[in-house]
Amino acid sequence: MKTVVISGANRGIGLGFCKHYLSTNWRVIALSRIKPEIEVSNKITEKQKSNFHHLAIDLLSEASINSSLEKIEGISQSVDLIINNAGVAEHENFGQWTQQAFLNSFTVNTIAPALLTQALSSLLTNNAKVIQLTSGLASIEQNLGPLENFDSYSMSKVAVNMLSKRLSAKLLDREIIVCSISPGRVKTTMGGDEAPTSVSQAVNDITNTIENLTISQSGNFYDELGNIIPW
Ligand SMILES: NC(=O)c1ccc[n+]([C@@H]2O[C@H](COP(=O)([O-])OP(=O)(O)OC[C@H]3O[C@@H](n4cnc5c(N)ncnc54)[C@H](OP(=O)(O)O)[C@@H]3O)[C@@H](O)[C@H]2O)c1
Repeated sequence: MKTVVISGANRGIGLGFCKHYLSTNWRVIALSRIKPEIEVSNKITEKQKSNFHHLAIDLLSEASINSSLEKIEGISQSVDLIINNAGVAEHENFGQWTQQAFLNSFTVNTIAPALLTQALSSLLTNNAKVIQLTSGLASIEQNLGPLENFDSYSMSKVAVNMLSKRLSAKLLDREIIVCSISPGRVKTTMGGDEAPTSVSQAVNDITNTIENLTISQSGNFYDELGNIIPW
């Protein structure tokens, strides 16, 4: 049985990933501060639900992230896929920027994926995949909505893309594929009700893209359908 570790698993796209991987018979290790309510999905059988494990992890805490290795080893000896999905979007306009908002953005969106992947590295199988949920706002070339207030968010997602690039080289000898994937605009607390894509559609597209990734694609920045997004 394959094992996936998903951060930010209690709501939004992360909860969608949990339901998807349970329904396709993976062992799901869900990291979140609040326990996900996976029982609300009637598409998942009781047997599949027994493959679900929740670990309480706060990504603002290095100690909490590092404690995940021992906890996960108690559930599975190997990990085939990490989805660094958790994220925060700070909204501060230029003129009201604060150090705290930048720190929150970088701690959750950039540093936590780096430390979590490092903590779990010894469990990753050869040919495993490590995915960062990034954003189209991370494209410096496209520089979408520069007058909007997603500055610390965009900067932290640019940095997590560099994490994918650098980790892809460090893990190449184990043929571990590391990529950043932008989900597009998705109806969640972060994406808002006016976003064009449902969670289930986004999860369908992203999981299909993840499934088809090959080692030659490692280190790149993709949209949900697997199209390259320019740096
Ligand atoms: N939705 C979109 O349109 C969109 C667009 C581009 C990129 N993305 C990216 O896609 C990913 C998922 O987004 P979403 O729309 O599903 O967001 P969401 O609905 O706001 O959910 C965010 C998740 O991150 C978790 N999280 C935040 N801070 C955390 C912390 N300190 N420790 C543990 N978990 C923490 C939240 O847990 P709590 O409930 O405990 O806060 C929640 O589970 C994010 O990386 C986001 O940047 C989303």
